[in-house]
Amino acid sequence: MKETLEKIHASALEDIAKIQSTADIEDVKNTYLSRKSELNNIKKNLKDMSNDDKRIVGSLSNQITKDIEEKLNEKFQYFYKKELDEKLERERIDVTLPGSYTPFGKVHPLTQTVDEIVEIFQGMGFSLVHNENSPEVETEYFNFDMLNIPQDHPARDMQDTFYTKVAPNVILRSQTSGAQIHEMLSSKPPIRVIAPGRVYRCESVSARKNNLFHQIEGLLVDKDITFADLKGTMNEFLRLYFGSARPTRFRSSFFPFTEPSAEIDVQCIMCEGKGCRVCSGTGWLEILGAGMVDPNVLRNVGIDPEVYSGFAFGMGVERLAMLKWGIDDIRLFFNNDVRFLNQF
Ligand code: PHE
Repeated sequence: MKETLEKIHASALEDIAKIQSTADIEDVKNTYLSRKSELNNIKKNLKDMSNDDKRIVGSLSNQITKDIEEKLNEKFQYFYKKELDEKLERERIDVTLPGSYTPFGKVHPLTQTVDEIVEIFQGMGFSLVHNENSPEVETEYFNFDMLNIPQDHPARDMQDTFYTKVAPNVILRSQTSGAQIHEMLSSKPPIRVIAPGRVYRCESVSARKNNLFHQIEGLLVDKDITFADLKGTMNEFLRLYFGSARPTRFRSSFFPFTEPSAEIDVQCIMCEGKGCRVCSGTGWLEILGAGMVDPNVLRNVGIDPEVYSGFAFGMGVERLAMLKWGIDDIRLFFNNDVRFLNQF
């Protein structure tokens, strides 16, 4: 029996020497110290032994058990710390590393321009037209007929207007002025609205022209509205948008739906009025068309021109953005090159 115990002890010491981890410790513990282990079996059988054997075998098996326990405990102290250190090293976080970069989106420069202009007019009491009063797919009726643009007007030419196959008179609007008609048909004066949106023209694309661009239309109809109201409103807008230092001028012009009509120029931002390539040597840049709503247009929508009068204006958003930021090619707005867009 003594020999058996010594064999068990020797074998345990051998296994303990081979231990490489806390998991190994559990294995060795199971093999030598569990209830089903050989050592434990011997202890269970002590009761059937003679008193002498009981004493010798009993004390020896206890010593062996104690020795194995102590040695396993030492191993545990060592491997537990070692594994903990390894785990901490593995899971170490460098809190000084820079965070991961999430790029931010930006508002498109044209949208920024529209927002700024809309805000200026809202500050003067204008409100945005409802979307249904400003459709991009229009009929000739709203885009031309109701605006006093005769059938033979050159703007209707296939060269300028995009026609659709939906129906012969369905087009992509060539101007936002149709919104004036929709608005006057759906509400009664006093009317004070602005209508920003896309317009389409069948033109060859260049640095100055794109066949999709943006306009902001304005319309005010009330009693006793005069050209002085138009001029005051436009001057206030120009002052707020370009700053008071920039000279502007009104030039008489013609639009079929306004009478009298004017075009408004700002002093060229590139040359400050001296004359350069951008302003074709004139020192001025045209930025918007405007005028008093033609009595024919008022009659078309059932508003009595003897009682009411009004003014309308339309401006090109790209033009205004290009002037403000000194951008020399309209196509940059549509290419979506982030190197360009990131600058705004
Ligand atoms: N619709 C005109 C254009 O596209 C601009 C305009 C609008 C002129 C309103 C007068 C009044 O050129």
